[in-house]
Amino acid sequence: MAKQLLSSKDRQRLLQAARAAMKNAYAPYSRFKVGAALLTNKGETFFGCNVENASYGMTNCAERTAIFAAVAKSGPKMMIRAVAVVNDQGVPCSPCGACRQVIYEFGPEATVFFQSKKGWTGAHITELLPEGFRLK
Ligand code: THU
Repeated sequence: MAKQLLSSKDRQRLLQAARAAMKNAYAPYSRFKVGAALLTNKGETFFGCNVENASYGMTNCAERTAIFAAVAKSGPKMMIRAVAVVNDQGVPCSPCGACRQVIYEFGPEATVFFQSKKGWTGAHITELLPEGFRLK
């Protein structure tokens, strides 16, 4: 599968949008604020933050908040070209398993930017989620 590389300008823009979204995170339980921004195939940008709940399992990660906002605004054919994820502690943070599956649903060719142990990394979604589940 071909990698979808982004220009460094587009990547910087996405990281900046993710940082701005992170400021709105509702994370009183973990105190770990996360922001995500995604670029669609049409060139639109959407963003999201984590939204926690006193019933911890109801928490929504930043990536899924961004994806659901994108579908709500752009419609069910929305395709993710790239996603960037940032956190307020500057620590390695790649998308959780649930978010990888949701990214894959709308972006089987998406590039995911996140902070790894070695600094910023761009990985194809299928590197993060080999054999992702599909119904079609
Ligand atoms: N979280 C995200 O929003 N995205 C990730 O990729 C990893 C984890 C959130 C969920 C929870 O609000 C907090 O980080 C701590 O797990």
